[in-house]
Amino acid sequence: MRIAIFDSGLGGLTVLSAALKELPKEDFLFYADTLHVPYGTKPKEDVKKYIRHSIETIMREDIKAIVIACNTATSLAVAELRSSYDIPIIGMEPAVKPAVEMNRETGKRVLVFATPLTLNQSKYRDLVTSVDNMNIVDSMPLPELVQYCESLNFDPETLSHYFAEKLDSFQLDEYGTVVLGCTHYPFYKNKLAELLPKHIQIVDGRAGTINRLTQVLRDNHLFNDHGQNDIKFLCSSNSDEYLQKMERALTLFRKEDDFS
Ligand code: SIN
Repeated sequence: MRIAIFDSGLGGLTVLSAALKELPKEDFLFYADTLHVPYGTKPKEDVKKYIRHSIETIMREDIKAIVIACNTATSLAVAELRSSYDIPIIGMEPAVKPAVEMNRETGKRVLVFATPLTLNQSKYRDLVTSVDNMNIVDSMPLPELVQYCESLNFDPETLSHYFAEKLDSFQLDEYGTVVLGCTHYPFYKNKLAELLPKHIQIVDGRAGTINRLTQVLRDNHLFNDHGQNDIKFLCSSNSDEYLQKMERALTLFRKEDDFS
């Protein structure tokens, strides 16, 4: 049986990349809801319908756990999905808590990048309220970055210009950590590292998700000992072109992924 990894589009590949490294004897199913990507700028009730439909499709496959490798989908639907299905469902959480801890000594600020929908959810606001006791967390929606990623746009000039504009209003010297709170964003981690002051660390929520997945597999005796990191790609538009793009994007990302 495979572990299913679900996202609106290519972003979940950054989670798949980490899972492939950490779980070399597991096989995976990667499902992208290409008919509806991006989620992060659409009305909440529509996105909830898209998620439910995607999960119904995934459940028809031979799978043993589902990773919702999408911060937007997790914040909108993970609780409801867990109460509807018996299979383990693991979500994403922006790494706000570790980021606050990293800056406890210095008092530097934390900047969270995510989609508008993620940042507007009570799940995100509650998370910040519960961990940000020094009042150091700021946030910034970067919806265009999802679109760049979906079109595999890594043009250095476009990105430099885009980030310069987005970061213009921030006193970056005051920040110690940037949190990538959308699974598409790690595709741009290296570019961001080039543009941000060197003292700023860039973190994402993948380690927390992979640790949780590993723990859930262990607790439920679901480990595979003979898989070979085989990946079955599916997408809601059934487009061969997109399936090829997913494979290309995964290969590209794995070359530069520093997940450890
Ligand atoms: C999107 O579909 O807009 C991005 C999903 C995410 O939050 O990872």
